[in-house]
Parts: sequence; C-alpha cells; structure tokens
Amino acid sequence: MSIIYDAAARTLTLHTRDSSYQMQIGPLGYLLHTYYGRRAEGDLGGLHLPKDVGFSPNPHPLGARRGWSPDTMPQEYSGANAGDFRLSSLKAAAENGAWGADLRYLRHEIRRGAYALEGLPAALDPEDEAETLSVTLEDRALGLEVELLYGVYESRDLITRAARITNTGKGELRLEKAASACLELPFGDWDLIHFQGRHTMERQPERGPLLHGVRSLGSGRVSSSHQENPFVILCDRHATQEGGDCYGLMPVYSGSFAVQIQRDQMDAVRVVTGIRDEDFSWALAPGERFDTPQVLLCFRHDGLNALSRCFHRALREVLCRSRWSRKARPVLLNNWEATYFNFDADKILAIAREAKELGADLFVLDDGWFGHRSDDHSSLGDWFVNEQKLPGGLESLIRGVKALGLQFGLWVEPEMVSEDSELFRAHPDWALSVPGREPSLGRSQLALDLSRPEVTDWIFETVAGLLRRYDIDYIKWDINRSLTDLWSPALPAERQGELAHRCTLGLYRVLDRLTAEFPRVLFEGCAGGGGRFDAGMLAYFPQIWCSDDTDPIERLVIQRGTSYGYPLSCMGAHVSASPNHQTGRTTPLDTRAVVAMAGGFGYELDPGKLSAQEKDRIRAQIRRFKDYEELLREGDYYRLQEEEDPRDWAAWQVVSRERDESLLSLVLTHPRANPAPLHLRFMGLDPQARYELRLELFDAFVPEERPREGVYAGSALLYAGFTLPRMYGDYPSAQIHLKKIAD
Ligand code: DGJ
Repeated sequence: MSIIYDAAARTLTLHTRDSSYQMQIGPLGYLLHTYYGRRAEGDLGGLHLPKDVGFSPNPHPLGARRGWSPDTMPQEYSGANAGDFRLSSLKAAAENGAWGADLRYLRHEIRRGAYALEGLPAALDPEDEAETLSVTLEDRALGLEVELLYGVYESRDLITRAARITNTGKGELRLEKAASACLELPFGDWDLIHFQGRHTMERQPERGPLLHGVRSLGSGRVSSSHQENPFVILCDRHATQEGGDCYGLMPVYSGSFAVQIQRDQMDAVRVVTGIRDEDFSWALAPGERFDTPQVLLCFRHDGLNALSRCFHRALREVLCRSRWSRKARPVLLNNWEATYFNFDADKILAIAREAKELGADLFVLDDGWFGHRSDDHSSLGDWFVNEQKLPGGLESLIRGVKALGLQFGLWVEPEMVSEDSELFRAHPDWALSVPGREPSLGRSQLALDLSRPEVTDWIFETVAGLLRRYDIDYIKWDINRSLTDLWSPALPAERQGELAHRCTLGLYRVLDRLTAEFPRVLFEGCAGGGGRFDAGMLAYFPQIWCSDDTDPIERLVIQRGTSYGYPLSCMGAHVSASPNHQTGRTTPLDTRAVVAMAGGFGYELDPGKLSAQEKDRIRAQIRRFKDYEELLREGDYYRLQEEEDPRDWAAWQVVSRERDESLLSLVLTHPRANPAPLHLRFMGLDPQARYELRLELFDAFVPEERPREGVYAGSALLYAGFTLPRMYGDYPSAQIHLKKIAD
C-alpha cells in the first residue's frame, strides 16, 4: 500500500519509491500538511510546533490556547476569511453574502486506481499501479464539501492532486476561487524556477530566490500562453542538475491558470495553483459539484535532471492517452517555411516528391489550403478546399502524395474564425465579443465561443468530416491568437465569469471526441509555435510544435527550457532553411539536424533549393535519426550544464532505461581563438559496463585532436570524462554514440 492511515497519530501518508507526503487531522479537524520530501517513515507532524504569533487569529473553541492559529500552521487546502491571511485555495459566497471557506475534516477513503475528473484530462493508470486517497473537508456554515483527491504512482514518484467542490446546502453558492492544490513548504530556503517568454522565445528558464511576499505567475489568455508556462520548480538554493531537493508542480490545464507563491511572516512557503481566479466565478446550485483541473507533483532529492525525468515519464506514460505517445513517429516534411501561403498543387507535389527522395515518411500541408486564403486575413472557418490553388481538391492532392509512398498530414485552426469567411457571415454571434464593443483582432482573426455546445459540435463535425472523407494520417491543430472580449450570449449575466473555463472545457470536449474516434491519427498541437504547450494538451496530443523560431541556436534555449518539464518526444522540432527565416542566422545543416533530433524530428524547407550534397546529408540525417529514434523517445534525458554555466557550448545526453545505449549531442555556440579544452563527463551510464564509442563531428574541428573511438569503461566516461577536439567556425556540432558491449 502506498497510502497509509495511522489512526493513533491521525496521519495520512502517501509513499512513493523515493518520496513521502503526509497530512494530519489536527485540532478541530483542520487538515494540516506535515511533510513532503524525501521518503521518511512514521509521524512527521511533531516537526511543527504551534506558536503564539501576534495578530494571528485563534479558533474560538480553543479559548485561551493562543499558540494555535490557521495563519501559522501549514494547511492542506487553505481557507479564506477564517483566520488564515495567507493565500487562499477556495473562496465561496452564499446567497446572503457570507463568503470565505473554513474547512474541517469529515471523512477519508483509500481506493485502488486513478480518479477521473468531469470534463477534464487526468492521469490514467495504464499499468494498474495507482492508488487514490480522497479526503473530504466541509464548511458547515456555507454548506459545501471539498473532496481533496490524491493519486499516488509509487514507482514513478508521482502524486496527482485535484479538488471536487460540492454544494451541500440549500441555496446557491458562487465559487470565486477554486484552486487545484495548495502545497506548503514550512521550512527551507528555496529558489523558484519558472519558464517565461514570448512568441518565438517560449519557456526561457528563470531562476531566483523566493523572497517574502506573494509572487503570482500565470496566464489570463484562456490558453496556457507563450508568456508563462504552467510548470514551476521550487528547489533548494544549492540544487544543481545532479543534486538537491526539487519540487515540480504542473497544472494539467490549457486555459487561464495561476501559480501563486507566498513566503510568509514565518518564512514558510505556500504554493497555490489552479484556474486563475481573476476572471473566474462559478455558480453551484444545491447538489451540484465542480471539479478543478489536476496538478502533477513530483519531488526528487537528487537534482533537476531527476525531477525532469519524473515528469517526462508521467506525461509520456500515464497522462497521454494517444497510442502515438509510445510509438515511433514518422519523419515529416512541412511546407510552411517552404512556401508560406504561396503554393499550388504542382508546387506541393514537387516538394512532396523531393521529401520522399530524402527519406521522409509524411508530408504536411500547412496553412492556406482552404476557403480563398492567400494570406492571414481570411477564410478561417471555411474548411473546404481552395480549388484555385488545388484543382481536383484534397482528394486528388492526397492521392498524389500517397502515390509517392508518403503519409499525408493537414493543418487546421478550427477554434478561430476570420471576419471574411462564410462561417462568420452565417454565425457572427459565434465569435467572442462584448456587446457594444468592437472585438480585438489577433492576427486579423476572432476566436470562436467554445463554451457553446453548438460551436464545439460544429468544430468536431467539421474536423471529423475531413478525417472521415480523406485519407489523412496527421493533423496539425493550431491557434494563433489569445482570447479577449470574453462575453457569451449563451450565458446569463451572473454566469459570465464561467466563460473562460467553459471555453477550455469545450476544447477538451472536442479533443476527447476526436482522439477517441480517430486513434490512428497523429495529432500535433500548435499555438503560433509553443503558446499552448502544456500537460492538458499533451493528455490528448503526443506532440506540440515547440516554437515558431526554427533557428537552431535559439532552439537550444527553448528546447532546454522545455525539457525541464516535458519529454523530447513531445517537442516538435524541424530543420529549416539557412539563413534562418526568423533570425537571419546561418548555421550548418548538420547542426540544425542535431538540434531537431532533440525533438519530434522533421524538416520545414523547400528541398528543391538544396544542393545534391545537402540532399545526401539529409538522407544520412534521417537514417541516423531512425537509428536513434527509440532511444531519444523513451530514454532518460540529462542536461549536462547548469543554467549559470558559461555558454560557449550546449550539450545534452539521452540514456536508454537499460543503460545499454546513449547519445550525447553538443553544439558549439561561441568559437574562441584559444579555447580551454572542451571536456565533458557523461551521465547516467553503468560504471561497470564497457561501451563502444562512436563520434560524429560535424563540420570544422582540428583533425589531429580527434579523440580515439573504440571501447571505454563506463566508469571512465562517467568519472574521468572525454575531451573533444578543438572546433571552430560557425556552430559546429557533435554526436557521441555509446553502445554497451557484451562482456
Ligand atoms: C503558426 C504555426 O506555428 C506555424 O508553424 C504555421 O503553421 C502558421 N501558424 C500557419 O499560419
């Protein structure tokens, strides 16, 4: 059993292989958080001493016992307006205006299996290993119950959390805040690592000490956003990639979210996360219940790399329901950067023919194939083929592509509408807008109101119609604006605060139906690059286009930042033309491939513009990628540098779970006239094993310094390391492949 109730100590303990999480039913039924950290046994509640802190209120029944206050004791799910001035997890209001939340233990239950959430993605239990703890708290005055749900995946060091709020009273309740989880770290000095950015610069890691006060991160865009990713790490001030305590919190949510972090008067840290409350309210009639999104929690005592691996395995193996999550993905060629909107059937077929000759498996037709779209001003919503560009329609084009021996993929953006479209002319009220106000445009387009079932039914039927009618193997599902002007004619005035969350639920409704009806289709998420790169989307889609910035040197940072929470297999990454279209930088073709191999590998260029020599290199790249594909998809990932290391080069390594194969990749980002030796120590290998080392050096290096290939002891590679020859020129790269040899 990974969940233990100790009736004498009144503790509930969740054990994973290397971590423990404990709560205690405290005085008056307050559910106190006692511990989350490295695996420990017994009663951990004695570590918290009540203390009399001035101006921290005491529960009335405790009378003169002033040492006990909800304001200073760590809470499992914090209340509001009832003596705890720190971040609240729940705020509810009754019809008479009474508001807050004063939560006390009512009952608990331990059961086998994972829990499901109404209309929301949640971790599954494919290996039949999960256990669930449900602890119900009540606020008698308001007439509500909160069921705190904990999923425990012992072998994975994974704990999931969510809250289910039920109106048990006689009048309507209004939820004004309903967090998914509250996590307390009563002791310690912590750094916060979060992943901020902007379009074409997503998930840039930022690390700094947690100071007193409240730090509030999140998105109000009704998508998880380019600007802040729904994933944070709290780690020991001295934690490194390979050592130190680290906590990761990842909301499984694709809409407006918040992560609030407070360091309080007693130096304790509280993290509250879930739906952003600023633009949220929810009416709960008597008997109704509300499920919050899930949050994934991992703790590792041995550094950031180990923490990342927990999340990688969780997303790949228990969250994503697509059968593609654990399968080799086709190497694709996408026409976006090759043609943008400027193509016709001949051009597309010429590109597809070349793609086949290069060794690609799948051709993707990107934006511009529908309505009368020739730029980004029109036709979103008109998901029928542009016969002027593609005479004979999709049928004939797909037949042509398939005749070449390629699979076929198609781009869609079905959550959006152009004002210049038949859809908008027929249903102007389907686009979000506030009465009497001109709605904001984003990339010249409006957003559909996904809270309305007729809209989500239309989206489902439209995309399902394409998939039923045509032989399509892959869908790239894009959105290219943030949601604004939130108002829906379908909701009464007092329920407009529900709209943002209802739009996200509408999206999940569509994705759930589509992925269930078309399990063989490979779906790739996209939002102007990586603007909706989150665990919610990854529950349905096994991969997401990482960024619209395809410059490999920029991608080193974006993909490294992304790797803290997300596995390589879910980051769409393509080799594009040089000079790069976003930055104008020139980089070697092989370096572009080395970087793209740290992701869902593909190409996004016009092969007709390549020389014969470049085409040969691409053929070799695709062969090499296919050799490494399983290792890169399923292997354990290691960042070989700290964030603050000098950045003359970037390196990462993937090691198979059996430790019998590994690939280390490196890109030199700053050549120097007289560099210090580039010396690396491998990670994750078996020290007792012997490995055959093969070295691929791409472009310029000093040939006399080429190191010896051949057999090396695992211990030598781990502890003594390996020195690369001097490399020079613009962005050379290397891949070192290790294969364990039989004794
Ligand atoms: C944004 C995506 O990120 C690009 O890859 C491309 O599909 C364009 N949209 C098309 O409009």
